[in-house]
Amino acid sequence: MNILAIETSCDETAVAILSAERGLLASEVASQIAIHRKYGGVVPEVASRNHLVQLRLVIEGALDHAGIGVESVEAVAATAGPGLATSLMLGMSAAKGMAIGLGKPFIAVNHIEGHLLSPFFDARAPLSGLSALPAIGLVVSGGHTLLVDIRAVGDYRLLGQTRDDAAGEAFDKVGKLLGLPYPGGPAIDKLAREGSPTRFAFPRSMLDSGDFHFSFSGLKTSVRYLLPKLTGPPEYWLEDICASFQEAVVDVLVAKTLAAARAEGRTTVALSGGVGCNARLREKMDSGCAAAGVRLLIAERNFCTDNAAMIAFVALLRAGQGSFSPFAADIDPNLRLI
Ligand code: KG4
Ligand code: ZN
Repeated sequence: MNILAIETSCDETAVAILSAERGLLASEVASQIAIHRKYGGVVPEVASRNHLVQLRLVIEGALDHAGIGVESVEAVAATAGPGLATSLMLGMSAAKGMAIGLGKPFIAVNHIEGHLLSPFFDARAPLSGLSALPAIGLVVSGGHTLLVDIRAVGDYRLLGQTRDDAAGEAFDKVGKLLGLPYPGGPAIDKLAREGSPTRFAFPRSMLDSGDFHFSFSGLKTSVRYLLPKLTGPPEYWLEDICASFQEAVVDVLVAKTLAAARAEGRTTVALSGGVGCNARLREKMDSGCAAAGVRLLIAERNFCTDNAAMIAFVALLRAGQGSFSPFAADIDPNLRLI
């Protein structure tokens, strides 16, 4: 079965084509980062206008790359939520229109489930990675910070989530405070490599709360209060602030994930979402898991940030269960995983 999936929940216009038998045939992403950079963040109206311009080109590019004609598409999927309403609408409408035109089924996919299962996605043999389940999933993106007990595909228990900012949002807001280009996450990651993670003692919020919830807004406030007290040019402190801030986020993420694995008796941890690209998080999660005797699966970098391959993967799993969506299925900007 060939599935064409469209992801337009935020500012990336992404299309993937996944074959159950041959694996991932195409995964195209038209990034809008450069467009939104001058506004310091994603402007919903600008994002949807650009999806409108890009979508047809990206679909054609994906078919081209996959080397198949549109008549070989056997199901069409799209992200239904969560995300920006006007962006979601474009991807969903395009996917439904294609499915109706082709006379093929439609599958609405939850973006968070896409991230959550992306570490189990094998681009060559799509279903082979699922044998690693059950696992503890940590989804850390610009919009979400979730710890989930993944018992099986579709059987999830929410263990904890952020009380305020998502981890990626904290990176982006601190990046903005520091005058770094949007998005702050990759910029902080890069600068932190040259900085000291111990020079500034930022709080590890909720580290000892005894539950699996997170809070990052206090940490962002600590950075804001520190900035006016610093003297000298940025060269004297910028890299150290980045490294110290990042260390505080990473310490909490790693400690809570390992505590969740212990509490649930799981021996596999699955890390996903845009913040999953962070070098320090990958390094500390790796050493933490090794010390705890836990296996760590991390989505490939391309599949950590927003992409349509993860949406196609979930759609393939749904199709395998014979679970398709009605054409009346609507977008839900606040769609929850559980
Ligand atoms: O998963 P994603 O592409 O979109 C959402 O669903 O939100 O995640 C984007 C987020 C942004 O907040 C971005 O700053 C963050 O992931 N991010 C990073 C890194 N790369 C992307 N954060 C820290 N370090 C990185 N290397
Ligand atoms: Zn995402």
